[in-house]
Amino acid sequence: MKTLTIPTFLKGEPPVLKKVLAGIGAGALLFGLTACGGGDGEGGADEGLVVGFAQVGAESAWRTANSTSVQDAAAADDRIAELKFVDAQQEQERQISAIRDFITQQVDVIVLAPVVETGWTDVLQEAEDAGIPVILADRGIEAADEDLYTTRLGSDFVAEGRSAGEWAVQTFADDADGTKILELQGTTGSAPANDRNAGFFEVLDAEGLNYELVDSQSGNFTAEEGKAVMETFITTHALDGIDLLYAHNDEMGLGAIQAIEEAGFKPGEDIQIIIVDGSKAGFQAGVDGKLNYIVECNPVFGEQLMDVVVQVANGDDVEKFTPVEEGVFDATQFEAELPNRQF
Ligand code: AHR
Repeated sequence: MKTLTIPTFLKGEPPVLKKVLAGIGAGALLFGLTACGGGDGEGGADEGLVVGFAQVGAESAWRTANSTSVQDAAAADDRIAELKFVDAQQEQERQISAIRDFITQQVDVIVLAPVVETGWTDVLQEAEDAGIPVILADRGIEAADEDLYTTRLGSDFVAEGRSAGEWAVQTFADDADGTKILELQGTTGSAPANDRNAGFFEVLDAEGLNYELVDSQSGNFTAEEGKAVMETFITTHALDGIDLLYAHNDEMGLGAIQAIEEAGFKPGEDIQIIIVDGSKAGFQAGVDGKLNYIVECNPVFGEQLMDVVVQVANGDDVEKFTPVEEGVFDATQFEAELPNRQF
C-alpha cells in the first residue's frame, strides 16, 4: 500500500494542503502548488470536501439514526462534495480496510466511529503519513493513540454510566439486604461498554451502595444477543431476588424485557431496568411500565460533525473532545418525552 509522508516543514499547514503536498512529492512541489489549488483529484477547497466515513454498523436504532443524521447533513451541506459511507458490520477489520481505501482514494477527511478502543495505531499512522486528518465520531479509542486523531465528537460515556449509577443509588439506598444487579454490557472492548461500566460502578462504590454484581455479560448492543444473554441469566440465577438490570443500550434492554416476560416475570416491577440511548421503542417500553430509567445517548449530530469536518480540513484549532448534549428521564417523564424522540 502506498503511503505519503509529510515533510517536517509542512507540519503546521492545514490538512488539505498537507495532503496535497505530501501527495505530489518534493520534486513536483512548486509545479503542484500552482496546478492543484488546495485540493486533490477528487474534492478540493473549491469543489467541496470528500469525506470517508467508516461507520460501526447497523446494530441498533441509535446507529441507524446516527448514519441517517450524518448522511443527510453531508447531502445538505454545500461544503461537502461527497460522503463515502462504509457500514463495517461491527467488524474492526472492515473499518481498517475502509480507512485504507479512503487513503488510496485521497479523501480530504476521514471520519471513524471505532467499533472497539484498541488496535488502531498502524492504520491511523498511515492516515497521518498521507496527510489525511481523522475525526472520531461517537466512540473513542485508547489514550495511547490520542495523537493520531484530531478531535472526537460524541457522547461522554463515563458520564452516562454515572447518571445510571446515581439513579441506582437513589433508588436502592434503603435496600438493607444489598442490591442484586445484572449487567448487560455493550460490545466487548468498545468505549461505551468500558465507560458505561466504569462510570456506573464508580458512583455505586463512591456512594457506598450495598450491592452485589450477580452477573455481567456482553450482549453486543443487539436485541437478539441481549435477549439470549438474559435467558442465560434467568436460567443460571433465576430472577427471584434480583433487583436491577443495567442494560448498556435500548436494544439489549428490549431483548431482555422479552426474555423476562417469556419467563413469566414483570419487567419494571419484579426487576427494575435501566437502559441507555432513549429510542422511541425504549420510551414506549417505559410508558408501558416495563422499564424504569433512561439515560439518553444522542446520535443526531450530523450537522455539528460537518462543521467539525470543515474546521479540521481548514486547519482550524478544534477541541480534542466535544460532547453532545444528553439528558436523563425517569418514569414521571416518559409519556411527555415520547413524542419528542427523533429515532
Ligand atoms: O456508541 C454508541 C452506542 O452504540 C449506542 O449506545 C448503541 O446503541 C450503539 O450500538
